[in-house]
Amino acid sequence: MLKYRNGSIVMKRVVMATILMRLSEERATKQYDRWISLLTLGQDRRLRSYIVNEVLPRRGSVLDLGCGTGTLLIEAGRRGLRGVGVDMNERMLEVARERSRNHNLGRRIDFQHGDVTELKLHDDSFDLVVSTLVASELQSDKLARFFSEARRVAVTGGRIAIGAEGLPAGRTIGGLFSLIRGLSYRIAAKFSQLKPHPLHEISRAMKAAGITPKYRVRFLGGLLELYVAEVA
Ligand SMILES: C[S@@+](CC[C@H](N)C(=O)[O-])C[C@H]1O[C@@H](n2cnc3c(N)ncnc32)[C@H](O)[C@@H]1O
Repeated sequence: MLKYRNGSIVMKRVVMATILMRLSEERATKQYDRWISLLTLGQDRRLRSYIVNEVLPRRGSVLDLGCGTGTLLIEAGRRGLRGVGVDMNERMLEVARERSRNHNLGRRIDFQHGDVTELKLHDDSFDLVVSTLVASELQSDKLARFFSEARRVAVTGGRIAIGAEGLPAGRTIGGLFSLIRGLSYRIAAKFSQLKPHPLHEISRAMKAAGITPKYRVRFLGGLLELYVAEVA
C-alpha cells in the first residue's frame, strides 16, 4: 500500500514536472530558472556546477546548444571564457541577454537565435560544446542532426558535454519511469507544442555521430545524466 502510494506520488510529480517545465519554457521564461530547479529538486544546478567546475576549459570558447536563459554561459564568461549560446526561443534569449548585460559580458558572450540542428557556425570553432536538458526534447531525426552539428563545430582535442534525461537503473523501476514519462509527455502535449517521443539512448546517438562518451555522471538516481566526450 505504502509502495503504491509512493509510486503514485512520484508519478504525479513527474507528470507535473514535464508539464510545468514546458509551460515555463514557453510562457514564463523569467521564472524558468526557478521552475526548473524546483522540478529537478535542484539537480539542474548540480549538473551545471559540475560542468563549470570539472568540464569547462581554462581558456578558449564554449558553445551552449539550447542555452535557455544563459546561466551556464554567464558563469563561463565570468571565468574569462568566450561563448556563444544558441536557442530557438526568443524570450529565453531576451532573459539571457539582459543577464549578460548586467554582468558586462556583452563582448565575451553572444546569444544567437537559431536551431541547434542547423547551426550557422563554422567548423572546428569551439573548445567545449555543451548542452543541458535539450537533447531529450528533440525528436530522433533531429537528435542525430544535433549531434552531428555538435561534432562539426567542436575543435579536435576539445570536449562535448551533454546533460539529458535518463532512466533510473533497474529493469522494473526503469520500465515504470519510461511509462510515466510517456504519459506525462502526452499530457504536456495538450498544453504545449511538445510532441511525445521515446526516451533517447544518448550514448548510442552520440556514438552514431562519431562522438564517443569518455564518462558519464548520474544525478537524481539516474534521471539526469551527463555524458562527456573528448573530440578525436
Ligand atoms: C529545458 S530548456 C534547457 C535550457 C538550459 N540549457 C538549461 O539547462 O536550463 C530547453 C531549451 O532548449 C531550447 N530548444 C529546444 N529545441 C531547440 C532547437 N531545435 N533549437 C534551438 N533551441 C532549442 C528551448 O527553447 C529551451 O530554451
